[in-house]
Formats: sequence, structure tokens, C-alpha cells
Amino acid sequence: MQLYRCQICGDPYLGTAPPTNCPFCGAPEKYIVLAGEYQDRNHIPNLSARSRENLVKALDLEVNNAGFYMCASNCAPDPVAQAMFKALSKIEAEHASTICKILKVPKPEIKPDTHACQKDPLANFAAAHEREKRAAAFYSQSAQEAMEPRVQQVFTALTEIETDHIHIAEEWK
Ligand SMILES: [Fe+2]
Ligand SMILES: [Fe+2]
Repeated sequence: MQLYRCQICGDPYLGTAPPTNCPFCGAPEKYIVLAGEYQDRNHIPNLSARSRENLVKALDLEVNNAGFYMCASNCAPDPVAQAMFKALSKIEAEHASTICKILKVPKPEIKPDTHACQKDPLANFAAAHEREKRAAAFYSQSAQEAMEPRVQQVFTALTEIETDHIHIAEEWK
């Protein structure tokens, strides 16, 4: 067994090989390193006003989407859709944690958003599709606007992960 860490969320993973995607934040394998090679890059002195503003918006978006998926999971009538929404909720909550580490703010409580989700899982996958498209577009723009390499890296990874989620929502809606 080897101990790996994700360069995006920092979480550790034990396995015989690196995972194809971080089990916690969904980042693709290229961000997974051996634990000894991991560098904590979340301390960014003089974070630019634009990056801070984009990270604050991103945090709000992630908390919102995590709450939406949590509700969608609770409402889903079949165990497979329940599990899919739960997986997505956990990933979005992990994104919120990662952003909080850079902003040095406590992680907001994430609760099921009963106003945002519906009873019908197909409607929730259609809503998820729109949410993920908005998130990916905003993160891609935020990556371009970021002056700091770490902020660029995180927004680029988030763009990649939410793009995977767009594909999932497309297949399921
Ligand atoms: Fe991760
Ligand atoms: Fe996310």
C-alpha cells in the first residue's frame, strides 16, 4: 500500500495505485501525488482582491450546490440516484472546504436545500446540468483572472471536475 495525497483538496488516500480521481474532491489523477511529495500551497500572502472575490463567490456556489445535491439524494426514490446525488454532494462539500482553506474562513454548515431540489430525480439531474455548466464557466473565467499560481491551479481543477459532472448530468437527465 502507498499513501497518496491530492494536491487540490489535500486529503490522504491509501491504495496500491493512485486513484483515477480523488475520492474526496474528484480531481483527476494528475493531481494525485505520493504523500512525501505533497506541498501545502494554501497559504497565499497578498491574495488579490479579484481572486478573493471569485473565491468567495465560488464558496457560496459550492455550499449551494452541496445543499442541492444533499436534498436531491434525500428525495431520490431509488438507491442508485440517491447514491449518485450523495457522491456529488460530498464532492461539492469538499470543494467548499478547499476554498475555505485558501480564504482562511471556517467552513459554513451545509444543509439539504429543500427549496432548490424537487421530488423527481430527472428534474434534479436537469437542474444539476444547469448548475454544473454555470459553475464550470465561472471557474474557467476565474482561473484566467487569477494571478496566483495556486488559485489558478484550484480553479482549473474545479473546472475539470465540474465538467465531469456536466457529463454525468447529461447521461442521467
Ligand atoms: Fe482531492
Ligand atoms: Fe464543485
